[in-house]
Amino acid sequence: MKENNLPIGVFDSGLGGLTVVCELSKILPNEDIIYFGDTGRVPYGSRSKKIINKYSNQDISFLKSVGVKAVVAACGTVSSVAINSLREPKVLTGVVEPAVITASKLTKNFKIGVIGTSATIGSKTYSKYLKNANSNFVIFEKSCPLFVPLVENGLTSSKDPIVLEITRRYLIDFKNQGIDTLILGCTHYPILKNAISKIVGKDINLVDSGRETAIFVAKYLKNSKMLSNNNNGGKYSFFVSDEIESFKVEADKFLKWNAPYSLEKIDIELY
Ligand code: DGL
Repeated sequence: MKENNLPIGVFDSGLGGLTVVCELSKILPNEDIIYFGDTGRVPYGSRSKKIINKYSNQDISFLKSVGVKAVVAACGTVSSVAINSLREPKVLTGVVEPAVITASKLTKNFKIGVIGTSATIGSKTYSKYLKNANSNFVIFEKSCPLFVPLVENGLTSSKDPIVLEITRRYLIDFKNQGIDTLILGCTHYPILKNAISKIVGKDINLVDSGRETAIFVAKYLKNSKMLSNNNNGGKYSFFVSDEIESFKVEADKFLKWNAPYSLEKIDIELY
C-alpha cells in the first residue's frame, strides 16, 4: 500500500484517546484510523515513569506492526512523561504542544490552569511548555486522579451529584486564582467538559487537548504531503487489551460514534 494511504495510528490507556479519533474523523474524513486503547492496564496516570515508558513502547510496537504512517500518543500522561524516550516511529505526536499553543493564544490575563493525571502534573511538562511559550504566564496546576476512573466507568453527566462533587473539590480553587483559560491536559477530561464548565464557570476557556491534537495532526499531515488520496471515507479499526463489550458500550455512549468500526481484543504483552 502507498505510504500515504496507510492508517494513522492513535493510542491511549483507555477510552480518552477516542476524543482525538472523533475530531480527526471530522477534520480528515478520508483517513483510515487504527486506535489502540489499553483498557486492560488503564489508568496510566498513577504509575511510575518506567511503567508508563514500557506500556507506551508496547502500544507503539503494536501500531507499527499493523502498519501506520504516523503515531499519535493521544494521552496526556504518555505525552508528558514518556514521549522523549519512546521507540521512534517516523512521525510521533503527543497532546501537550497542541494544547499549549491554543491556550497561549486564548489567554488574555496570562493566568492559565492545567489539569491532568498525577503523573502528568508531577512531570510539570505543561508548565515547562507554557513558560517557554511566554515566561509571563502564571500557571496553576492540579491533578484530578478520580476523573479517569469516572469516565472509564461511565460517570460523566453534569447532573450526577457524585460527578459534580468530585469536580467541585478538584476545581473550586481555580475560581479564586482568576484563571481565564483551563487546559484539559488529559484526553479523558473533555468527556467531563459540561461538569467542569459548570464548576469553573462558562466564561473560562476550556482547551480540549483531544481536539487541539487532531487539528495539529491534520495540519502536520497536510504540510508534509502525507494525506491519503482515498476519497471514499476512512475505515476505523479499534483494538483493546480487555473485553470488547464494555469498551463498545462506553465508546458509543459518550462519543456518539456512529461510523462503522471493527473492534478486537489483543494481547499487548506480546509486543
Ligand atoms: N487519557 C489519559 C491521559 O490523557 C489517561 C491516563 C490514565 O490512564 O490515567 O492522560
